[in-house]
Order: sequence, then C-alpha cells, then structure tokens
Amino acid sequence: MEFLDEELQRYAEDHTSAESELLHKVNRQTHLQVLKPRMLSGHLQGRLLAMFSQMIRPKQILEVGTYTGYSALCLAEGLQPGGTLHTIDKNEELEDRVLGYFKEAGLEDSIKLHIGNALKIIPSLDTAFDLVFLDADKINYANYYDLVFDKVAPGGYIIADNVLWSGKVLEKYRKKLDEDTAAVIAFNKKIHDDTRVENILLPVRDGLLVARKL
Ligand SMILES: C[S@@+](CC[C@H](N)C(=O)[O-])C[C@H]1O[C@@H](n2cnc3c(N)ncnc32)[C@H](O)[C@@H]1O
Repeated sequence: MEFLDEELQRYAEDHTSAESELLHKVNRQTHLQVLKPRMLSGHLQGRLLAMFSQMIRPKQILEVGTYTGYSALCLAEGLQPGGTLHTIDKNEELEDRVLGYFKEAGLEDSIKLHIGNALKIIPSLDTAFDLVFLDADKINYANYYDLVFDKVAPGGYIIADNVLWSGKVLEKYRKKLDEDTAAVIAFNKKIHDDTRVENILLPVRDGLLVARKL
C-alpha cells in the first residue's frame, strides 16, 4: 500500500536535499545485489533521519537493524565529534559490505558494527544513548524498547520504523491478524500509553514513531 499519491511522493523527493554520492551508491547496490531492498530507509526517510540527528546532535547513537548501512550513515551525519554510533545486525553475510561503506564514508572509527542477535547485544552495551533507532524484526520491538529504555538519557529519543506496517495496523486493511501486525499494534499502544515519554507517529513512508524520554 502506498500512503502518499505517487506524484506527491516524487514532488516531496524532488524538493528534498539529494542523497550523497555514497548513499546513492548504497541504495543502488542494495537494490541490485541484496535480497529485500525495500528494507532500506531510502532517500526521503534517510534525509529525515539525518535531519533529526543533526537537530539532536547525539554523542551516542544505537541502531537496531543495520541491513546495508544506509540509515546508519544517515544517522551518523549528526554525531558529535568523538561520538559513536553502535549498530546491530544478525546478518553476518552483510558484514564486509557494510564495513566497506563505513570505511568509504571515513566513519570506520565512529561507527561500531555488532554482528549478532540484538536481544543479546543490547544488554552488553554499557552506554547512555541520546538517540536510538529501532528497525529490526517487528516481533521484538517491545523487547528492544524495554532493553534500551534505561540506557536512554533523559531528553533522549527512541525512533521506531515501520509502525504503520503497510497499513495493516488499521482494522480495514487487515485480512487476519498475523504475528508481526499484532506486535506492531501492541508496540504502538505501549509507547502511546507510556507516561515516561512523549510521542508522535509520523506517517512518513511506512510510519516513524518518535518518542522523547521525559
Ligand atoms: C529493515 S532492515 C534495516 C534497514 C536499515 N535500518 C536501513 O534503513 O537501511 C532490518 C534488519 O534487521 C536485522 N534483524 C532482524 N532481526 C534481528 C535481530 N534479532 N538482531 C539483530 N538484527 C536483526 C535483519 O537482518 C535486517 O538486516
């Protein structure tokens, strides 16, 4: 399901700063060479993530779900000098590709790629994060949120991708409630009901839920 009229989507992209050469390359190579390229954040959402990061100026960022590194490169644009972005993915087959892109960006010292299950890796990170981006398996969104919450500094942000889940969160677009859809619906409710944060659900691409820890 496309949320925005195709022409309006193109108009929005045409009036959004272009991707860097490297991001364009990551985008293109992912589409040509990697399975499930739809998972990549892409031009418009990538620029939004970069803009958020530049507004927040985080010292420490955590990303759950690296894939080919597109969103990590966008989020790293706002990192403070000397800051670190930790990004986690369980897919070891993408490791060399992703490390290559980070090196090409000159960010091999500021982005730390962790290969493995995020449920195991998050508890091992002894860091206070200013910005967290959740973009891995939907079934574990609520678990990731619980695992990172105490590691987020007051005033810090947690952003979750795909919270509209191609529209399936709406009763009328659900054929039957599959596990992923149920998890996304429960996650959205959990964050909305959480009095420790204020939140906004942005209908950008597949939906971005932005929560700020009070
Ligand atoms: C939607 S993609 C991430 C896209 C990326 N953030 C971007 O915008 O370019 C989701 C990624 O989460 C990873 N993933 C899924 N379950 C995971 C888990 N339990 N631990 C770590 N990574 C996981 C997958 O291997 C996949 O690469």
